[in-house]
Amino acid sequence: MGKVRFVDLEINFADRELAMRVIEDWAERGTFPVQVVYGPEGCGKTAWLRESIELFRGRGGFDVIYVNPIDGFIRAELGGIADLRSRILSIAKDALTQEAWGGRVVWVIINIAREAIEARVSRLAIIVDDAFQVIGVDKAALYVKGLLGILEHPPAEYERVVTVVATSEGMSLREVGRHNWAEFKPMWNMSKEGFRQLYDQIPGSKPSLEETWRLTGGNPRMLEILYKARWNVDRVVEQLILEKAITKEFTTRWRRDLEATLNDPDHLWIEGGPGGELANELVERNLIVYGIPSRSPDLWIDQPPPERDSELGIGRYVAWQTPLHREAVKRVLRAT
Ligand SMILES: Nc1ncnc2c1ncn2[C@@H]1O[C@H](COP(=O)(O)OP(=O)(O)OP(=O)(O)O)[C@@H](O)[C@H]1O
Ligand SMILES: [Mg+2]
Repeated sequence: MGKVRFVDLEINFADRELAMRVIEDWAERGTFPVQVVYGPEGCGKTAWLRESIELFRGRGGFDVIYVNPIDGFIRAELGGIADLRSRILSIAKDALTQEAWGGRVVWVIINIAREAIEARVSRLAIIVDDAFQVIGVDKAALYVKGLLGILEHPPAEYERVVTVVATSEGMSLREVGRHNWAEFKPMWNMSKEGFRQLYDQIPGSKPSLEETWRLTGGNPRMLEILYKARWNVDRVVEQLILEKAITKEFTTRWRRDLEATLNDPDHLWIEGGPGGELANELVERNLIVYGIPSRSPDLWIDQPPPERDSELGIGRYVAWQTPLHREAVKRVLRAT
């Protein structure tokens, strides 16, 4: 089990057993087409994918290319090919100095993956984390097509290739979804039991497990932010309001529908329809997840959210990313 950075702590990677089983399955069978993993901001996609690197390498016998263009992190485990390894290292160095590095590097990775296959890497995992934020909505689909090209038109024979893209960026998902180039795999915040394993590792005095669950809905990033703010909920909500630009102008414009959505997020599905303007605004700000599939466990990376949970703001088709996201909107709305 790996270690995860949690503000000033180093903690154990908690739970996500089902999600690790998905990795095992991918390692055994490869993936087709490209797997696009999406879920609320901070639900734990990156922590899980970084944890998966060792599994791919160890038991899976894979070479691995992992890149996160947002935080400028590349990891290349290309055992046999010194040349590609050193090229990746030099690209990684550029991250520190070059603007727009992220936008370029994702395209470079496609070439490097092709070269690796050409150089007879037979098991290769290509993981592009936080992929679409830097690429732009319009190019997200093209990028996925580029990754699919590695699988469909490889430069040499390969045994197994896994391509995974992770994002919390809802708008580009729609763009990618219009084609059949990817399989969409939703991931949700942590299950209550998994969340407890994380909560238990936080030292010092803290609110009860129930209280933190009610606030975060199991979202580990929100727990991290609360911990960092010394459990000052007001401060965290304030921070969210600013970050998400939840202005009075915005809440006043949508007052009636927002009230209904606070009450039941499915209001947007039933009344708003796909392409509904308010739904779009809330997806763009990463406040809601829109169009949640059935809770059939095989569709999900890990445990699905409940079918409905009005306390946590989860509806059948639409959900607030966390209760704190909902609270931020509520606070601005009620103050006007
Ligand atoms: N399984 C886990 N065990 C322990 N800590 C975790 C786990 N998952 C996530 N975390 C913690 O929660 C934080 C947020 O998780 P992470 O960055 O993986 O989310 P994300 O879904 O990738 O977010 P984003 O949507 O912003 O990319 C991490 O910094 C880590 O501290
Ligand atoms: Mg991430």
